[in-house]
Amino acid sequence: MILNPTTGIDALAFAGPAGYVDMTELAQARGVDPAKYLLGLGQNSMAIAAPCEDTVTMAVAAGQQALQQFDIDPDDIGTLIVGTETGIDHSKPVAVYAHELLGLSQNCRTFETKHACYGAMAGLTASMDWIASGRARGRKAMVIASDIARYGLNTAGEPTQGAGAVAMVVAPEPRLLSIDPMHIGDYTRQVMDFWRPLYSKYAFADGHYSIQCYLDALSGAHNDALNGSSDALLDRLAASLYHVPFVKMAFKAHQRLLEIETGNSYSKEQADGWQQLQEHFGEKVAPWLKLNAEIGNIYTGSLFLSLIDLLRQAGTSLAGETISLFSYGSGCGATFCLGQIAAQAGDWSAQLDPATQLQQRRRLSIDEYEQLINASENADTEAQLNPADYGLDSGLFYTGTRDHIRHYEHF
Ligand code: HMG
Repeated sequence: MILNPTTGIDALAFAGPAGYVDMTELAQARGVDPAKYLLGLGQNSMAIAAPCEDTVTMAVAAGQQALQQFDIDPDDIGTLIVGTETGIDHSKPVAVYAHELLGLSQNCRTFETKHACYGAMAGLTASMDWIASGRARGRKAMVIASDIARYGLNTAGEPTQGAGAVAMVVAPEPRLLSIDPMHIGDYTRQVMDFWRPLYSKYAFADGHYSIQCYLDALSGAHNDALNGSSDALLDRLAASLYHVPFVKMAFKAHQRLLEIETGNSYSKEQADGWQQLQEHFGEKVAPWLKLNAEIGNIYTGSLFLSLIDLLRQAGTSLAGETISLFSYGSGCGATFCLGQIAAQAGDWSAQLDPATQLQQRRRLSIDEYEQLINASENADTEAQLNPADYGLDSGLFYTGTRDHIRHYEHF
């Protein structure tokens, strides 16, 4: 496959909240058959943020890990972009808090991007353009996706929540994944599939319509990336990564692309075709959805969480192989692109694997989970929050808003 790889992802790290909810327990509490959440949506558990864990604390934790684990000097970062739809201020970007707490240079350009789940992909492509233009002058960019997905208790969206941040460093000759600037396709259309008005902590979603919007955007961006000719692309790719609001969505997405490429339509009633789709999905997509199944929707970071999953398992065996990445943000904006796994990507599998962090998470009872969600509603105006009240002992935490100023402290 002919690619033009020059720039891409040089470092990757995930950081998420300390607590999670088990989907079987949530289903039982809601009087739903657990198979709906486990199989129908594909989710095993979902990360839940406490009031002291916000977009800033998760972004900083992920950013620090990316710098430390990949041995990158903070002074080498010349652009910091935080993609988020969980802003903490109408004016002040999460990025400028992260800039200070990560100890980045004052000559670093710093801003926040918002377009629902698409914000980090927007940051990634903007960083690549910044490097290609020559303006980087040898420096690297850091893009952090940080979000808390909340639909509210007892809503249809409740089992598709989650929280977490993925930090990536973008550089020439990247150690993990290069992205081909000649195969990046975009799509934009104003739709009301999912939104969060200024007055609400919770997202509003027209759930089934949002799935259609996602699939339409996938068709449009894929077509744009390949200039209308897909040329049996999926068979030549080692993996296809998608935005993952819930694991089953990646299956629907892969089905759509396979239908575009083969001209067939796949349904359970046609056993042979359905078997072919299952096998294709099982080989190219499913192996890289384990983290998404345990963490849930982290909005801007969810596509890149799947990339972490791929690189931690198959960085060595898939070295040099081409993969596709699809980012979707409701509202809506999307990008489909092709990338190449770096020759030495496998050397970094251990550094980017969040398995230990996930093993240390605390399973919340449904009562505790509901208390956290209710407590989070007023967290922005609480004067004093104590991390210990939420079982949090070490790390950077939000400790309340005093004199209209948010405070962050290390414990
Ligand atoms: P729902 O209506 O409660 O669920 O909401 P459903 O009835 O559609 O069932 C879900 C699946 O479970 C179905 O599978 C059922 O058949 C199956 P499908 O037919 O789709 O393959 N099912 C079962 N399977 C096994 N055993 C059972 C059983 N019962 C049912 N007993 C919905 C589901 C996703 C709509 C809801 O959770 C929701 O609104 N979520 C939020 C919106 C969302 O995630 N949209 C995704 C696309 S938009 C996007 O990705 C952007 C986003 O990330 C935001 C952003 O950009 O910022 C959301």
